[in-house]
Amino acid sequence: MHPILEKVKISQDAYLLKIQASHVSRAEAGQFVMVQYKELSEPIPLSILSTFEDGFSTLVKVVGRSTLELVEEAQELFYVAGPLGKAFPIEVYGKVAFYSHSWGIAPLIPIAKALKDKGNYLTLCHTSEDFYLEEEAREIFHEVLQDEPKPVEANLVVCAGSNQLAKSLVNLYPNTPIISMVNVHMLDAVGLCLVCRVLVDGEPMLACSDGPWFPAHKVDWDNLISREEAYKEQERIALEEYKKILRRKELRNQA
Ligand SMILES: Cc1cc2nc3c(=O)[nH]c(=O)nc-3n(C[C@H](O)[C@H](O)[C@H](O)COP(=O)(O)OP(=O)(O)OC[C@H]3O[C@@H](n4cnc5c(N)ncnc54)[C@H](O)[C@@H]3O)c2cc1C
Ligand code: FES
Repeated sequence: MHPILEKVKISQDAYLLKIQASHVSRAEAGQFVMVQYKELSEPIPLSILSTFEDGFSTLVKVVGRSTLELVEEAQELFYVAGPLGKAFPIEVYGKVAFYSHSWGIAPLIPIAKALKDKGNYLTLCHTSEDFYLEEEAREIFHEVLQDEPKPVEANLVVCAGSNQLAKSLVNLYPNTPIISMVNVHMLDAVGLCLVCRVLVDGEPMLACSDGPWFPAHKVDWDNLISREEAYKEQERIALEEYKKILRRKELRNQA
């Protein structure tokens, strides 16, 4: 079991969790973990925001049943696997433009810190109203913009938090390399279940072991977006059922 050492609410729907899991402390920027609250809970991927000797911290945005369970109930986690995925390539690029949407700021912060140490100039374009970790972001990035995504001068573009945003950046930056996280459901995250398949340059690749960072111009975003849509109805039912359980608990506590 992995105790949740701290759980801090940072907005209406987002929390920072500090989790004890010493095997994750060797993580590099851009890697993620799979966490599972109870034995029968769904395992979900979360980015590693920072590490300490005994574990790591992560940002959780509540979007459905599993993220709600984590913030509402979990005091400890049944399973934490990681660090997983390939680390982000930390190199000298020159000017780097980051595009974040919602929780996407969390994987971008450790990458930005590492790229800043290399002397790169960093611009952040945050594209959603929920600007989590804004204060920390403003300290790290040289420039922060909060408009509709529009092109800025850059040698490299980095994106996280939304497949739709990544797809739009491909049109916005036809000639600039873009490295983007793909948002895809994962199950085992060790390359066996094939749930996280992504078409890259027409070839199937695995987000959990080959990714989660891919060259955005080569990703078949339409295929990925339509596949992810397929789970919507089951996700809605799972969330409604869980909300009923929470409501019954609340009523029992009031009685
Ligand atoms: C490599 C990776 C790193 C991630 N890092 C973080 C992180 O640091 N913090 C964080 O809060 N979330 C992160 N996510 C997204 C997170 O895994 C999902 O939000 C979570 O699995 C949703 O589970 P749920 O049961 O609460 O919601 P579900 O019922 O599964 O989904 C509810 C809604 O959220 C959408 N959704 C589901 N999965 C994703 C996804 N992967 N990306 C975008 N939308 C999704 C669904 O389309 C649906 O509309 C990451 C995802 C990946 C692939
Ligand atoms: S999550 Fe199973 S192969 Fe990637």
